[in-house]
Amino acid sequence: MLAQHHLALRENKPNYVGIINVAMKLKEVIERSCQFVTRIASHKYGRVPQLKLSGHVNAVFPYIELPLDYILPEILKNAVRATIENHSEYEVIQLPPIHITIASNDIDFIIRISDRGGGIPHHLKVRASDYNFTTANHSSDFGAEQQEGVFSNMMEAVNPNPAGGPMYGFGFGLPTSRAYAEYMGGSLEIQTMQGIGTDVYLRMKHINSSGASFRI
Ligand SMILES: Nc1ncnc2c1ncn2[C@@H]1O[C@H](COP(=O)(O)OP(=O)(O)OP(=O)(O)O)[C@@H](O)[C@H]1O
Ligand SMILES: [Mg+2]
Repeated sequence: MLAQHHLALRENKPNYVGIINVAMKLKEVIERSCQFVTRIASHKYGRVPQLKLSGHVNAVFPYIELPLDYILPEILKNAVRATIENHSEYEVIQLPPIHITIASNDIDFIIRISDRGGGIPHHLKVRASDYNFTTANHSSDFGAEQQEGVFSNMMEAVNPNPAGGPMYGFGFGLPTSRAYAEYMGGSLEIQTMQGIGTDVYLRMKHINSSGASFRI
């Protein structure tokens, strides 16, 4: 990131100082991630829950988009997957929307992503943020993909995911997102209501806050 910042400092991009967007519209960054995840999820599942944004939607402040462009899609992919897997396609009800709420204050900004995807079961909760922990092999479509290797490879070849990147499968989304958030002086907390859904809180320090100094 430091190297990117250094290189970017040589460019003369309006609104940017290096990789810092001096007037970042948080809503736009979140919407970009929502569009990306909507694209890959609709390619994979053919249906996507609504992603609803509320709170301080007009927040504008200087920040670096890079970590958010990584972390937000990871959290959104998890929320979308849980929502879809917990509502079978035979249910007539609409998929419950995922609510994204933003709050910005003098010290930090917080993004809460709430899904109704059934939550993370008690026995998995402590492991969810471990590297390499995934429930991908329990997914309804995973077994099929494994067994029909040749067929699914052919399908993948003629019908590659246009958005690029899988929905899930490595168990790296949460731990790397948390590490990235903490590297930036922020945090990633998961609150889950087993049987209902999950809330993920991403807190990031403002780079111009009066509190502790900020380093790239
Ligand atoms: N919002 C959520 N609701 C329910 N379960 C979740 C949620 N977020 C994460 N999990 C559980 O935690 C596990 C780990 O999540 P993580 O994002 O780290 O890995 P992954 O999604 O399996 O793979 P990837 O590396 O592609 O993100 C998931 O496999 C899933 O079982
Ligand atoms: Mg994930």
